[in-house]
Amino acid sequence: MQQKVNITLQPLGKIISVNAGTPLIDFLHEFGVEFPCGGKGTCGNCKVKLLKGELKVDALQQQKLDKLKLSDSWRLSCFCKAESDIMLEVSQFENMILADNSTFEFTPQTGFGIAVDLGTTTVVVQLMNLKNGHVLDSVSDVNPQAKFGGDLISRIQSCLDGNQPEIQNLIRQKIGKMIKIILKKHPVEISKVALVGNTVMHHIFSGLKVNSLSFYPFESPNLGIQKLAPKQLNWELPTTAEIQFYPSIGSFVGSDILAGIAATKIAERKELSVLIDLGTNGEIVLGNCDKIICASTAAGPAFEGAKINQGMRATTGAISSVIFENGKLQSHVIGNVPAKGICGSGLIDVLAILLNQEKIGMFGEFNSGEDKIELASGVFLTQQDIREFQLAKAAIAAGIQMLLNLMKITYREIDKVFIAGGFGNFLNIKNVIRTGLIECEEEKIVKLGNTALIGAKIFLFEDEKFIQNILNKTTHTNLEGDSTFQDIYIEKMMLL
Ligand code: FES
Repeated sequence: MQQKVNITLQPLGKIISVNAGTPLIDFLHEFGVEFPCGGKGTCGNCKVKLLKGELKVDALQQQKLDKLKLSDSWRLSCFCKAESDIMLEVSQFENMILADNSTFEFTPQTGFGIAVDLGTTTVVVQLMNLKNGHVLDSVSDVNPQAKFGGDLISRIQSCLDGNQPEIQNLIRQKIGKMIKIILKKHPVEISKVALVGNTVMHHIFSGLKVNSLSFYPFESPNLGIQKLAPKQLNWELPTTAEIQFYPSIGSFVGSDILAGIAATKIAERKELSVLIDLGTNGEIVLGNCDKIICASTAAGPAFEGAKINQGMRATTGAISSVIFENGKLQSHVIGNVPAKGICGSGLIDVLAILLNQEKIGMFGEFNSGEDKIELASGVFLTQQDIREFQLAKAAIAAGIQMLLNLMKITYREIDKVFIAGGFGNFLNIKNVIRTGLIECEEEKIVKLGNTALIGAKIFLFEDEKFIQNILNKTTHTNLEGDSTFQDIYIEKMMLL
């Protein structure tokens, strides 16, 4: 059995237990620490303060710390491993919003607010002081609706089969409980709750029928903002607390993407930007302060591991990155445990390496004639996995191309490409480009964490006019309905 060590995180007062030798990056990203430069030691944003215990500093880290003018007690968490019990101050957590690169201007308000990112798989709830924008606490949990299926189609089907009241209650109760846990630790008065999520989550939570989302043309008449009272939800909050589930943009582009637009400031910038959300569905946004178009793609959750033989989400046991060193593939496994499977970022890495070494051809075929290769003991990449990757990658790449065509522009005119999604922290941008998922210069690509949550927090400070302003500029387009989509999609299947 591997030795365990305890990590105490302040000011949260949270103690987590991990295997000795686990890199801090593997667990700190869940607590608001971002790794913008991907661990190159150039940004300094991953810095944490060592309050107790020992975290070794090698010569390279010391050099980087000196350059960033950080004194003795600071560490760059992207360099460190937890070898023994330690206590860290994770200031990013409290100042998450303020530390976020997309400078978040807000007008201080009185009271406290709660931001909720209601995802198909996970739910995150954060408590925020509306006076100074500080996050006071955060809890995340799995979406209990998962027992009715992992994807949106099966959730819709279960609702149609008569389970909608139960599916709705499960999630209302879960979020209610999460809020209660937070408020027990911080007994403050909540004035506002902002919820974001995809359209299916929006409908189920708000008690709206999902029938129209189950058949062509998949148009719901109820995409608008939903306001609910604490009593209706059975939540222990003041009766005056405003609870709002923010509006969807289209049937398959929800308020999580609306929040992403707010978090990336796409609707405010003159320059053109792209936002790609590689979550359970692949959603793409393109635009600027004049006009925004968005679409969802049929990428499926391949980047979250679904349909990949040994695919899994970016959690403990997942191969999150792969490099070629000393003549062989070396896999990094989250949590310093034996590999159980591979997540999206690891898959992208290994494909880029195999392409560079010409071990796979442009149609994704293994040139050696093998049908699988071993990535770590017992974890394999199969020919079928490469096919699944090609399908998902083509859906995203073709989706971006279609939106560029609709705007009559090329990638060259794009100023920034924001990538949102759970495994963003682990992505190697060079490899993303090598596989053809995104076709622009490395400098333009910005990895962001959970843009839905950042946006939900922004919404706590904004009024409906702010939301309406984004909606007025934004149109939703149905990619598959366009006759050129199929040709572009097939072209993008290639691995060039
Ligand atoms: S210094 Fe940039 S991620 Fe650690």
